[in-house]
Amino acid sequence: MQGRLLIVDDEKALVLAIKGLLSKEGYQIETAYSGEEAVKLIESGSFHVVITDLSLGGITGLDVLARARAVDPDVAVIMITAYGSEKVAVEAMKRGAADYLPKPFDNDELRVVVRRVMETALLRRDHRRLLEQVQGSYGFESIVGTSPVMQRIFATIDKIADTDVTVLIRGDSGTGKELVANALHYWSPRRAKPVLAMNCAALNRELVESELFGHEKGAFTGAVTRREGKFEAAHGGTLFLDEVGDMPLETQAKLLRAIQEKEFERVGGNHPIKVDVRLLAATNHDLEQLVREGRFREDLYYRLRVVEVVIPPLAERREDIPLLVDHFLKLAAKRFNREPKPLDGAALRACLTHAWRGNVRELRSAVEQALLLASGPEITAADLLPGGVVERNASSERLQPVGFQPESRNGGAASTGPAGPADASATGAARGLSFREAKEQLVGDFERRFLLDALRRNGGNITRAAEEVGMYRQSFQQKMRELGITPDDAA
Ligand SMILES: Nc1ncnc2c1ncn2[C@@H]1O[C@H](COP(=O)(O)OP(=O)(O)OP(=O)(O)O)[C@@H](O)[C@H]1O
Ligand SMILES: [Mg+2]
Repeated sequence: MQGRLLIVDDEKALVLAIKGLLSKEGYQIETAYSGEEAVKLIESGSFHVVITDLSLGGITGLDVLARARAVDPDVAVIMITAYGSEKVAVEAMKRGAADYLPKPFDNDELRVVVRRVMETALLRRDHRRLLEQVQGSYGFESIVGTSPVMQRIFATIDKIADTDVTVLIRGDSGTGKELVANALHYWSPRRAKPVLAMNCAALNRELVESELFGHEKGAFTGAVTRREGKFEAAHGGTLFLDEVGDMPLETQAKLLRAIQEKEFERVGGNHPIKVDVRLLAATNHDLEQLVREGRFREDLYYRLRVVEVVIPPLAERREDIPLLVDHFLKLAAKRFNREPKPLDGAALRACLTHAWRGNVRELRSAVEQALLLASGPEITAADLLPGGVVERNASSERLQPVGFQPESRNGGAASTGPAGPADASATGAARGLSFREAKEQLVGDFERRFLLDALRRNGGNITRAAEEVGMYRQSFQQKMRELGITPDDAA
């Protein structure tokens, strides 16, 4: 069990006993021996759960509760109350305590209560962060593009922004489908309400349906509590069905019904819930083919595809590249707190010829990495595409690596500027490493710096750092382990 816990009591022995017991459960624990000390800690640290005695020497447990909830409404507070003081316990619950423990309590009671409160606290926090992420990070993110096809897409968004029509957004991975979906929402009268994304490619039907429609307690094994679905949560706003082509057939039927009747039932429930939600959908599959194969309902296909927005691969709209590079450079400079650097001629040419199989997403990360790693005053082709340019070979449609000559800077070997030696070690050339070794080293260095920077910006908080850079927390932690980074390294 993970999570940060604060234990507050003026009885030192009790604090230590609780700490000893709960640290075996895996929590990160801090302690305070007075209400004043607790308030200071709560204001500076981010705790998930606070366990506090009701009667402390100075300010009381109720004050600690009020303070904690003012600082962070997601903190869950467990109140320890004296024997026979149920009235105060009830009062504490009314004021937002998550639970209470009447003294004397045994170890099992303590463990169970803390575990349950912690689980809920972590879930609630994750949920809120997700919402913030969707609303915050895309809220004002602009879509750029000068190509005629992007201009047409902007015009389409403009024309339908004030309607509720369903839009099917199509394009390969990384072409900007989610960005278009968010633009459609934020330029619509629903902008003040949530826009929620829902991945329809989850492993099984039960999961997809419970995520879409929610479920009642006991609807299936594992449904221990009732849960609100995305349809309900997006009420008044927009629901973005990502990878809709992967939705199970049975679920498609339920979705169709929900669209037509504007109401649905939770899984395992039997009363209809009415909602007002605008639907957007995205796919990178050939939906027509899926319809022909009987894997996607034709009636649903027509319902979703009222308007269609097709985003071509980046390689088919190279006019957009210079503007996108400029856009991502500015964003990255701001985000990583670095001076923006221009691309040199060869780097720009490399950009314009590279195949960009990962589309705009690949371009974006190439630019971000280059800005962090470039040691000279300008970004070179080697900074931007350390693996070399891959060109699309028109005749065979196969991708072929094409080497490029790193531009010699400052007159080459004679240079003794700081860029000289740093540059040589950055590419591993000075030590005669093989291409693979040099690349591994470079990537390793980049990853270490990237992760550390993200951690520092977030005061060592892994969850927040991972969110900021768009990684799953688990992958972020895995990478940290691989690179031998601990949160303390970011201090
Ligand atoms: N025209 C654009 N202008 C600015 N940024 C863009 C543009 N297109 C894509 N991006 C950026 O590229 C990245 C990938 O975009 P997005 O997540 O919308 O792609 P997607 O089509 O949903 O990909 P996937 O199919 O893999 O989910 C994001 O960081 C997004 O901000
Ligand atoms: Mg997407």
